[in-house]
Amino acid sequence: MKVFVAGATGALGTHLVPQLVARGHEVVGMTRSASKQDLVRSLGARPVVADALDPDAVAQAVASAEPEVIVHQLTALSAKMSIRDARHPDRSSMAKMTNRLRTEATDHLLAAGRAVGARRFVAQSFGGFRFARTGGPVQSEADPLDPDSRQPGLEGILHVEQAVTTIDWGEGLALRYGGFYGPGTSTSLAPDAVMAAPIRKRRFPIVGDGGGVWSHVHIEDAAAATAIAVERGQPGIYNIVDDEPAPVREWLPALASALDAKPPRRVPRWLGRLAAGEMATVMMTEARGASNAKAKRELGWQLRYPSWRQGFAQGLG
Ligand SMILES: NC(=O)c1ccc[n+]([C@@H]2O[C@H](COP(=O)([O-])OP(=O)(O)OC[C@H]3O[C@@H](n4cnc5c(N)ncnc54)[C@H](OP(=O)(O)O)[C@@H]3O)[C@@H](O)[C@H]2O)c1
Repeated sequence: MKVFVAGATGALGTHLVPQLVARGHEVVGMTRSASKQDLVRSLGARPVVADALDPDAVAQAVASAEPEVIVHQLTALSAKMSIRDARHPDRSSMAKMTNRLRTEATDHLLAAGRAVGARRFVAQSFGGFRFARTGGPVQSEADPLDPDSRQPGLEGILHVEQAVTTIDWGEGLALRYGGFYGPGTSTSLAPDAVMAAPIRKRRFPIVGDGGGVWSHVHIEDAAAATAIAVERGQPGIYNIVDDEPAPVREWLPALASALDAKPPRRVPRWLGRLAAGEMATVMMTEARGASNAKAKRELGWQLRYPSWRQGFAQGLG
């Protein structure tokens, strides 16, 4: 099939494009920068340069590709986040820009897809920190969201999920990824990896009882699920996470060890709140994880790294 990937040069896109090409698809990859066209070519795709926030440029780029499927992987999430950003995540420039990419750019891509007669649209969403903090530690796509969630970028996430899964001219799927780790992500062995750096410096402590449950996914597995979603699966929302949602107090020491760092410090809840704010404290102590049962059942997705235990030890580099 002809597949148009917006965000071909990103953490997910650079793993996805080669997998789509290996599965026999003809891929056109979008980037903002003329200088990244060679990267797109090296992944096996034809590059097209357009700013996702410019509706005419997006319409032209999509029209030139005549895709059957559009994949939306546009975010601004790889930027560095400071402690001040953690205290007020919605005010950070990365959250504001990601919101624009998940609202305005989603609408531009959907309009362009409709205009060229695309029949499928697969978009990136995010699963963590938004489930109601009631019920069990692991929740499904059908479970309620926290009505009081202050998750950064929630506006964009809600828009992308609603707009994509309700299209009437094709099939729309929204993939709620877990926290990415592995090559090219913020959690990798690279010296400049954004999340790994504070863990190495012991500036990423376990707050309170560290009972907040997080869901992770290796970037290659996330790309594999996306490649399958390009080809099949009913419209709707899918959690793309590994088999083992786990509390911070379990996975953070394992991640520190895989990064050759000393074990994380522990700080009481009040101190965590004072230093990093309420939202970060809730993530560390009360968050719920996500179940991947639907994605495995309906997409037939198989994971190379079913648990972060094995993935952190073998898949960070
Ligand atoms: N999921 C989360 O909530 C979360 C939270 C914190 C950190 N992270 C980390 O953030 C990264 C997220 O990976 P990702 O693949 O979603 O994002 P990414 O690596 O930041 O890639 C974003 C993609 O969007 C494109 N893009 C952005 N603005 C654009 C515009 N105006 N017009 C056209 N293209 C635009 C970029 O293309 P060009 O640059 O080529 O134009 C790039 O291909 C990972 O490292 C992850 O570990 C994730």
